[in-house]
Amino acid sequence: MVSEAEKAKLRELATKAAEHAYAPYSRYRVGAALLLEDGVVVTGCNVENCSYRLTNCAEQGAIARAVVERGPGIRVRAVAVANLNDAASMPCGACRQTLSEFGGDAMLVLYPGEGGAAMETTLGELLPHAFRGEFLA
Ligand code: THU
Repeated sequence: MVSEAEKAKLRELATKAAEHAYAPYSRYRVGAALLLEDGVVVTGCNVENCSYRLTNCAEQGAIARAVVERGPGIRVRAVAVANLNDAASMPCGACRQTLSEFGGDAMLVLYPGEGGAAMETTLGELLPHAFRGEFLA
């Protein structure tokens, strides 16, 4: 269970993380805040590159940082995504797959919808029938 207070905090931290975005090309500044199983929150922002395809999304940056800081066993309970552009901002397809590596269908996903509405869903809703590491066994 993620409380309403925790959700509000995650959205706030994601917005704050977006202030560090390196987005000179799209000017779309994104932040992400992960709530890990142990209660720790880890944030990330998008980091673009002039070779556009090398851009890292905020969610991917947050996952990489969480693994670096907390180790390979991290599990994500919830993720909030935010942007400083007053735009909708749900995780892109690649980020859904990246999140799926470290959490199950029940992972809570918080994001701003069109018009700025505070939306919430689950990873299972956003990425049904995910490709999973266990298939490789
Ligand atoms: N972006 C993210 O950070 N997360 C997403 O889930 C979607 C897109 C970034 C990548 C790029 O820097 C900018 O938004 C425009 O696509």
